[in-house]
Amino acid sequence: MTDQHLITLTVNGADHELLVSARRTLVDAIRHDLRLTGTHVGCEHGVCGACTILVDGAPARACLMFAVQAEGRDIRTVESLGAPDDLSDLQTAFADNHGLQCGFCTPGFLMLAEGFLSENTSPSRDEIREAVSANLCRCTGYQTIVDAIEDCAARRCQSHGPAGDAAGGSCPGRTRPQHEPRPA
Ligand code: FES
Ligand code: FES
Repeated sequence: MTDQHLITLTVNGADHELLVSARRTLVDAIRHDLRLTGTHVGCEHGVCGACTILVDGAPARACLMFAVQAEGRDIRTVESLGAPDDLSDLQTAFADNHGLQCGFCTPGFLMLAEGFLSENTSPSRDEIREAVSANLCRCTGYQTIVDAIEDCAARRCQSHGPAGDAAGGSCPGRTRPQHEPRPA
């Protein structure tokens, strides 16, 4: 009896045929079979969030899914956000707010934020703080990440309107100018 399964994974809009064992995790299939190495592996236990991707638009731990479970789902990795010379608005907000940290945790934070902002287009700061608590950074604080997500939400609201259909208006967003000293 063979343990191999021929599956088709749809990642970042492209279909890929893969022959995988039933035990192959989705993160291993993404990194090693598809060579999309932006997604990282930290704990492999669903704790750290370094492997966060979007599955059908919602953040998910790629280390907790088997590749065979992902067949037929719409998968997005950090590579879908933008290119080095063409960053997405979220990546730009992270860069502008010094929210880009190490290569291990940042892709997970970006995908967590991308999924979160698609669900909650005008989050409160407390809601952002709660959302990012799902992922771990082992070496620094979360302040600039929260700033970046808040800034991105405000920028999207300004360009698309609070309901996504009209410009500007009553966007709640962030009013603190960039680089203003933060409250103690
Ligand atoms: S590697 Fe998946 S949650 Fe840590
Ligand atoms: S784990 Fe990436 S900066 Fe802390």
